[in-house]
Amino acid sequence: MFFSGGNFNITNITLFRQCVEGIRKSITTPDHFFCSDNMITWNKNLSFLQNDKFLESMRKHSNTNIELAIIWRTYILCYFANYAKRLRGDFVEVGAYKGNTASIILDNTGLEKTEKRYYLYDTFEHSDIDLNHILPEHSNILYDQVRSRFERFDFVKVIQGYVPESFSRDFPEKIAFAHVDLNQAPAEVGALRRIIPVLSPGAVIILDDYGWWVYHEQKEAEDPLFAEYGLAVLELPTGQGLVLNHRDFF
Ligand SMILES: C[S@@+](CC[C@H](N)C(=O)[O-])C[C@H]1O[C@@H](n2cnc3c(N)ncnc32)[C@H](O)[C@@H]1O
Repeated sequence: MFFSGGNFNITNITLFRQCVEGIRKSITTPDHFFCSDNMITWNKNLSFLQNDKFLESMRKHSNTNIELAIIWRTYILCYFANYAKRLRGDFVEVGAYKGNTASIILDNTGLEKTEKRYYLYDTFEHSDIDLNHILPEHSNILYDQVRSRFERFDFVKVIQGYVPESFSRDFPEKIAFAHVDLNQAPAEVGALRRIIPVLSPGAVIILDDYGWWVYHEQKEAEDPLFAEYGLAVLELPTGQGLVLNHRDFF
């Protein structure tokens, strides 16, 4: 069980690699080692590396090192998507970009066998006034590419435009699963103000950026918002934030 992938925020890659090698040489389980997405662990089962179906869909849909590097985040998303498919309500991804994560979730959940719809929101383009940073494949053809990627799934709705304004075009009545990943606070807060009130009992929100210090403005803006609804975010080692809607259980 060995996985070595990309990491972020490194200023001296040679020194970093020497240090990682130093860690491997100084532990009892150098072959049970994970170093990727700013996490270094050893002596863990790494269950996702033993799941052939999941690994196959990761390989099929991940075209860049970064997409592979976030394997632990994607495993968590697939786990909670499987959990949420039994709940009332639809799936949303707010900030879908190329649709990679949505494709992997579809491969690993069999969502097409349920009655659920999967709403994917994004601008798909980048403008200089945007608060979030540009990504390599932002362009005026990305929306069409993502639409074609999902055209065989009529329950997947690809919606272009700025969130939360674009919610007026189409938005679910009830939400079971929300993956929120906009890399900026104001639009995420706007989106969450619409999402939280329509969560079904037990519904899950995964905030992709919540635990990352570089995105701490998102955490600072979102913690009080969740508190208004009696909810709290669990920061995961992956940098994701997890919220389970327990409000209507008690
Ligand atoms: C990190 S990417 C999302 C990656 C995607 N969740 C995945 O897992 O493959 C962030 C996306 O958020 C989108 N975005 C940021 N602010 C937005 C807004 N206000 N409205 C719509 N999309 C926005 C960007 O265009 C970008 O594609």
